[in-house]
Amino acid sequence: MTVSSRTQVGIVGAGPAGLLLSHLLALRGIDSIVIENRSRAYCEARQRAGLLEAGTVELLRGVGLGSRMDAEGLEHGGIYLQFEGERHHLDFRALTDGRGVTIYAQTEIVKDIIKARLEAGAVIEFEVSDTELAELDADQPVLRYTDSAGARHEVRCDAIAGCDGFHGVCRDSMPAGLVTVAERGYPYSWLGILATVPPSTDELIYARHEDGFALHTMRTPHVSRLYLQVPADEDIERWPDARIWSELQHRLGVPGWDLKEGPITEKAISPMRSFVASPMRYRRLFLAGDAAHIVPPTGAKGLNLALADVTILARALTRLLRDGQAELADAYSDTCLERVWRATHFSWWMTSMLHVDPDADQFGTALQLSQLRYVISSRAAATTLAENYTGYLPLSWLSGPRLVIPVPAGYPRPRWCRGRSARASSADSAPATPVSVSESGALKLRSPPSK
Ligand code: DHB
Repeated sequence: MTVSSRTQVGIVGAGPAGLLLSHLLALRGIDSIVIENRSRAYCEARQRAGLLEAGTVELLRGVGLGSRMDAEGLEHGGIYLQFEGERHHLDFRALTDGRGVTIYAQTEIVKDIIKARLEAGAVIEFEVSDTELAELDADQPVLRYTDSAGARHEVRCDAIAGCDGFHGVCRDSMPAGLVTVAERGYPYSWLGILATVPPSTDELIYARHEDGFALHTMRTPHVSRLYLQVPADEDIERWPDARIWSELQHRLGVPGWDLKEGPITEKAISPMRSFVASPMRYRRLFLAGDAAHIVPPTGAKGLNLALADVTILARALTRLLRDGQAELADAYSDTCLERVWRATHFSWWMTSMLHVDPDADQFGTALQLSQLRYVISSRAAATTLAENYTGYLPLSWLSGPRLVIPVPAGYPRPRWCRGRSARASSADSAPATPVSVSESGALKLRSPPSK
């Protein structure tokens, strides 16, 4: 027997994207259900990145999800870039308009949102199986799944959000031939560890060493996270703890600095790839996060992009389902892809600049080192890194009932760039800074990414 029900938005995936989407929709009075094929315990333990852009922090805070992040998150105003045996500090606050980043692990965000949603009485079905999407050409597509007790469900939805990750079913449910994929592989992977030892550094260290990249990041004042570049098809069995620490000491070491070692509680190897599927929407099916795009981890954009997608999606679905207006839903894919491609370029650039390509020749290596020297010596180059790292495009979720004027696609234009291109003088050119207007009519400038 099949249990039939209906909801406004059927959300596939209880990762950070799916969970935040259901929270944002609830704030706008729109109901949803979330289905997830893993258990709650698995979702709350899965180790991923943990670096939040300034705009992501403001977003979580602004929607009532910031209290533990504010208490436990670790704010950073810059990073260290290390190469040729020297460590250099980049001061993001001085290079941008005061923006920094916050270390707060994805797992903690997931725990916070699951708790908030369940306390609000939301439906999150864990451990479902045989998820299927049907009638995607209709105005009310159907989501089918089998729950953890074995009952088959059929949920009629006004829209379906595919937040089910790279290997999920939603992207493949789009009509054959609709989706175009742009992708790039990298000839290396990351071996990541969690260790019970206080961080040996105040800021994250990104090190390009001739034997491979290494990154020192952290989770709490007592837990460090570290990564090593390893060959693409590496076997974790070849990396006993002692070898990991010895390689980290070798790649991260500089005179007068000490890397503290401690028990390793988790280790895993992750492949690296860039992948962008477009469009991110077919009629009433919307893809968000890793279901539509993957970036290599250098620069930690994946989580920030996923949360940005669903912020844009929540606003678009509110307009569609509450006000019957489709223009934001129609613009959803283009709006997201603009940010996705900026982050895709940045992640590719950071990755290519910092890793040792096993096939690189002397020319490639010299270009890499020249680029690194440029970043630490030119304010313009350092600003490029800083403004992308801390989050380039503005992201806003306005609390309270507000109307948002859709801003035509286009990056915020600094004053010195306006009027110099055909696009700037064309009739559809966007205002330089996105604006929103409250229902009372007051104009509100959303903060531009930088001056
Ligand atoms: C982390 C991961 C990253 O890929 C990165 O660039 C910075 C931080 C992290 O896991 O903390």
